[in-house]
Amino acid sequence: MQPLLVPPFPYRSRDWPPVWTSFVGRRASNSVYGWPDEAFDIAWRTRRVLGHTVHLVSEPDAIGRVLLDNKANYERPALVRRLLRGGLGDGLFNAEGESWREQRRIVAPTFSPAAVAGFAKPIAHVVQEQVARWPAGTRPMDMAAEATSATMGIIAATLFGGDSRLTAPAAAGHITAMLDAAGRARLTALLGMPALGPGSSRARAGGRFLRDTLGALADERARTGGRDDFFGGLVAALHARYPAPQARELAVDNAVTFYVAGHETTANALTWTIYLLAAQPLLQETLRVEALAALGGDVETLDARLPRLRAVLDEALRLYPPAPRLDREAMADDELAGHAVRRGDLVSIWPYVLHRHRAWWDQPDAFDPERFLGDRRVGMHRYQYLPFGAGPRVCVGARFAVVEALIVLAHWLAARRFSLRGGPPPVPVGRVTLRPAGGMPLELAPV
Ligand code: HEM
Repeated sequence: MQPLLVPPFPYRSRDWPPVWTSFVGRRASNSVYGWPDEAFDIAWRTRRVLGHTVHLVSEPDAIGRVLLDNKANYERPALVRRLLRGGLGDGLFNAEGESWREQRRIVAPTFSPAAVAGFAKPIAHVVQEQVARWPAGTRPMDMAAEATSATMGIIAATLFGGDSRLTAPAAAGHITAMLDAAGRARLTALLGMPALGPGSSRARAGGRFLRDTLGALADERARTGGRDDFFGGLVAALHARYPAPQARELAVDNAVTFYVAGHETTANALTWTIYLLAAQPLLQETLRVEALAALGGDVETLDARLPRLRAVLDEALRLYPPAPRLDREAMADDELAGHAVRRGDLVSIWPYVLHRHRAWWDQPDAFDPERFLGDRRVGMHRYQYLPFGAGPRVCVGARFAVVEALIVLAHWLAARRFSLRGGPPPVPVGRVTLRPAGGMPLELAPV
């Protein structure tokens, strides 16, 4: 049997690095760099971080208790919400309690399977236009930038009526600056201080750009009363439920939330998936055949005709989870897997660690999409694989993201052959999301 490919993963240290190294140097700018080898063997570790007790939990049953069985006891930590408030305000991602329930109820119908099937055509349209713009012949291209351009175009087309202010090249730069700064600002957030430095002023400018642009859009929708798309419907529902100033604020908060959460993560998933396929030319060829056959049928059901591509996407989300960490704060004392958790403790679940844990996976660092097919998938623990989280706060856009990624990948594979360009392998960098440092340069050739 051929040995499996082991795609790049960040440096692992022999021992647990001292806590202060999370705040300076490489570990400060890359949350997946320098994890100790032991983290991938143990189910529980408690550390004190600047006065906070943090439990790192990689035990699926305990994770199930945090995210579902005792969910009321575990909220998004106050310090994470403080960190994100500047960008996401009190929108769905950052809300808690009744406000969260109400907002989730308002947006849920947009992400039902039937509604997502309705987005298939506009998604395919955006990627067809992208592929048509690609230069002919054999050319190097940064597929990280292409992935972002596709997902930005798609989120604007599907949720925001295709508004061109959201797809301008400037918008991408602003979002990157915002996410970079949020990823770096851990120390200042833990200490309850505002973030400082050049990165944070770029991030503030980025946040202002998004809020101004989306605020103008919200005002236009409120004036015209349009309900013809997700954002129009959201603005109308919020105005029906809340006083005007609060409705406007929540409309902008959610516009930023859906615009940012709705494209950056999927762009990362696409980037790592196409990288893994570029590294496996034979597999890529098999998937091209699957994609070409699937594209012959109706686009609303395209995703169902791509089972092997789906397994590769699932495996890419395992190895490179676009959201590499999930944090919760205990509202009251509890017990998890025999360990005491006190009120105010932080519970930190790292899909990046859990997905490569030796107790839960065979050859955890190897690329093996077959593990997501047939009986092998059926045998998985419900909480050992969490690219979209789990429980009531599970990603509301999970189905949207999977359908979107499969449609984009099928069109890409049908249009070009992708190969590696030589040079050093890409390095995953964890900020808020998990991106390759320096983009993803690949060679594109005619099929
Ligand atoms: C591959 C793509 C994606 C990944 C890996 C991903 C991952 C996640 C994860 C892990 C969470 C839960 C965080 C937690 O529990 O702390 C989440 C929440 C969320 N995601 Fe996604 N996401 C993706 C795509 C999308 C898309 C396409 C949208 C919208 C169109 C979206 C919107 C949201 C929102 C609004 C939340 C907050 C939900 C709530 O708190 O009720 N995501 N996402």
